[in-house]
Amino acid sequence: MGTSSLNFRATKGGLGAFVEGVDLSADVSNSLGQELRQGLGEYGVLFFRDQDISPEQHIGFAERVGGVDINRFFQPVAEHPQIAEVRKEPEQKMAVGERWHTDHSYDLEPALGSILVARELPSRGGDTIFANMYAAYEALSDGLKATLEGMQAEHSTRHNFAKVPKAGEPGASEYVGRLGNQDLAVQDSVHPVVIKHPISGRKALYVNAGFTTRFAGWTDAESKPLLDYLYAHAAQPEFTYRFEWEPGSIAFWDNRATWHKALNDYHGERRLMHRITVRGEGLSA
Ligand code: SIN
Repeated sequence: MGTSSLNFRATKGGLGAFVEGVDLSADVSNSLGQELRQGLGEYGVLFFRDQDISPEQHIGFAERVGGVDINRFFQPVAEHPQIAEVRKEPEQKMAVGERWHTDHSYDLEPALGSILVARELPSRGGDTIFANMYAAYEALSDGLKATLEGMQAEHSTRHNFAKVPKAGEPGASEYVGRLGNQDLAVQDSVHPVVIKHPISGRKALYVNAGFTTRFAGWTDAESKPLLDYLYAHAAQPEFTYRFEWEPGSIAFWDNRATWHKALNDYHGERRLMHRITVRGEGLSA
């Protein structure tokens, strides 16, 4: 596939760009993969419209931009263990990823990004909101930037994936066919609070409400007020963009430079997405 018509058209919001001139059902070449990685580092999220890709092409796309990092808690797609299902059935009330988070920050080498493909959408609702952690960091005062630089934070899944009810336990039906492997929620990690982005070299705020538990060397009680401040600061509308899914939509987001949350406003309808997390290369300050 030629890449000469590739174009990044920035959204009118706080981050992200629509990628035009690309057909992802053709093989993603190494050079296109490199261009997309560069675009990801700059814009934080890349959006694609009117794509029709198979699970195999989804996996091929992920391999060209960094490789597959299999998520251990999500239900995989049948015969494609590399792909996680992000599913909500009409009778289920909870949506996966409702809270601001970034995927896999609990890992020692967090995922570079995630590629989410729309498979079945509700008649309305089910948007995903993204937030820009470059902009959130840059808008902090010099004093708070100086305080945060050099600090580290702990990330875990013990407070969420480990607590998912197992089959037969109260509330388990909400999670059946969606989340499991609770016994694997034992991997914690420590990362810089301000990272140097591996692609762009820009500084980004790297704590998130889903998985960050405390600042390293601080108690929970000491950490909470500052974490809450950072969460409220970074979620301000000017740092965000709300993506409306359509059939054929794909979002490829950077887990180091952005947060995301799934809106849960479509009760009684099914929403099914396929997600591959893309392998990262380690984080540093
Ligand atoms: C996720 O949190 O990875 C899924 C986001 C979504 O379903 O929109």
